[in-house]
Amino acid sequence: MSAYGTRWKGQWALVTGASSGIGQAIATELAASGVDLVLTARRLERLREFATKLNTKVEIIDADLEYPDAPRRIFDFTEGKGIQPALLVNNAGFGEFGEFRDLNPARQTAMVQVNCAAVVAMTHLYLPGMVERRQGDILIVASTASFQAVPYQITYAATKAFDLIFAEGLAEEVKRFGVRVCALCPGHTQSEFHEVANEPIPKQMTVHTAQYVAQTGLKALAAGKHYVICGVGNRLGMELQRLAPRRVVTAISERLFRPASARP
Ligand SMILES: NC(=O)c1ccc[n+]([C@@H]2O[C@H](COP(=O)([O-])OP(=O)(O)OC[C@H]3O[C@@H](n4cnc5c(N)ncnc54)[C@H](OP(=O)(O)O)[C@@H]3O)[C@@H](O)[C@H]2O)c1
Repeated sequence: MSAYGTRWKGQWALVTGASSGIGQAIATELAASGVDLVLTARRLERLREFATKLNTKVEIIDADLEYPDAPRRIFDFTEGKGIQPALLVNNAGFGEFGEFRDLNPARQTAMVQVNCAAVVAMTHLYLPGMVERRQGDILIVASTASFQAVPYQITYAATKAFDLIFAEGLAEEVKRFGVRVCALCPGHTQSEFHEVANEPIPKQMTVHTAQYVAQTGLKALAAGKHYVICGVGNRLGMELQRLAPRRVVTAISERLFRPASARP
């Protein structure tokens, strides 16, 4: 039996960003536990191909979360099919690496839309039903970037700090209704993320598999944790850095991530 047991077995889960990486790994884990799935992302063909590998009921909807009406479209789709997800996984997201003044401003604001506004909208649509049913779980994929500023990925780290704080606050607010919320905070993870973000992984960093990250998140959510940091090293690093002055932590982060091309 999986580490999160039969918590969602025979029920529906909705996973955003299910065409790749951590979202696919979460969907794979859930399908193996007998959970039916609603999968969403922009790349429809990818979702279709992925669905053929899953031994469970799967519904697919392509949606671009850069558009503010996308969460409502997804919600109407599940309502139309009579699906009330017992689990919502807000996983879709992306980053962009580089000196802020060189980055495309439209892509930076799209990042805020996908990583933050869409998370708020999706959660606001599905939460009332969960509260009414006195049952439901929400996993929000944040990051180790949630815990400090990260120069050269400043918007991304700010969006992930938002995700963590949003999840922690909501978790406390809705626990009396039997609804669980958990922020999953992975460090560097094997996926398409770094390619999309144009971000090299610093050599000394541990890289986890998406499967390990998925299992860690689902296990923590099922255990009622409000957040979880993936891996002992990341956990120690994040918790210990709280003791250091914030400015020192940011300066170390700047040295770690400074691109070779950084202009004087
Ligand atoms: N990989 C890491 O090192 C790492 C570390 C910490 C946190 N995370 C977080 O983990 C989450 C998943 O990322 P990943 O590592 O699995 O990266 P990934 O392999 O690039 O997957 C990202 C997923 O998000 C979807 N997505 C991106 N933009 C979207 C949009 N506008 N509308 C709808 N869906 C969109 C993508 O689907 P389509 O392209 O098909 O739309 C894809 O399924 C993200 O929230 C990321 O911030 C990743």
